Amino acid sequence: MKILACGDVVGKKARKMLIEKIPELRQKLGLDLVVLNAENAAHGFGITEDMCKAFFAAGVDVLTMGNHTWDKRDIVSFIAVEPRLIRPANYPEHTPGNGFCEVTLQDGRKAAVIQLMGTLFIDPLDNPFSYMQKWLEQHILTQGYQAIVLDFHAEATSEKMAMGHFCDGKVSLVFGTHTHVPTADAMILDNGTAYITDAGMCGDYHSVLGMKAPEAVLRFTDRIRSEHLSPAEGEPTICGVYVETDDYTGLATKIEPVRIGGRLASAVPMC
Ligand SMILES: [Fe+2]
Ligand SMILES: [Fe+2]
Repeated sequence: MKILACGDVVGKKARKMLIEKIPELRQKLGLDLVVLNAENAAHGFGITEDMCKAFFAAGVDVLTMGNHTWDKRDIVSFIAVEPRLIRPANYPEHTPGNGFCEVTLQDGRKAAVIQLMGTLFIDPLDNPFSYMQKWLEQHILTQGYQAIVLDFHAEATSEKMAMGHFCDGKVSLVFGTHTHVPTADAMILDNGTAYITDAGMCGDYHSVLGMKAPEAVLRFTDRIRSEHLSPAEGEPTICGVYVETDDYTGLATKIEPVRIGGRLASAVPMC
């Protein structure tokens, strides 16, 4: 299976760029599955129903969220009826929406996408490792799924790397999100799981995590907590990873970084 997983999309320009580029990437790379973290799609905070529909129409299969899931309150009713929009699975029981989504490809192959949120320096949710352990007992690679993808939305690199190793050999890809900076550690772990600590954001990197720098800098220099953080408006970079998996084992055979447009050094997968 050929998979593209992209990190947190921040604001309108990045949304527009992804909507333009995803159909092209799907075709050029022969993608079977596209996963996008969209917790910052709506001006940096959450996502709306219309935005979700635009991403799905452009060829995104699953949208994942994170600590900004509920920033746009209207999403509470939409997430309850849209299985392709998922939020961290380790939220308390009865939280609206689902933490995982099953995708059936046109040729019948199946993938599962799950999202978990870390608990170090971020919201205090249920232990993501315990949750994943139980989930993996019910969802086994090669038994019903050709691929399993985990978006681990976490702050601490240690927690993310630990999750990668915890899942090694049991899922196809663990990609980190939330920190909005791509890490240079895309690799295949010993037991066949593709891993990256953070996929990076889809947004303008001449910014602080995708938001205009001057207001964001004030939070550090003057300890002024401005309410007016807004997305930077330079050319965005699409960031993520391209992964190929073996349909028989479900494990990864290739992982390459993806960086397209904007200020970062370009990285386009060679197929
Ligand atoms: Fe984010
Ligand atoms: Fe986040």
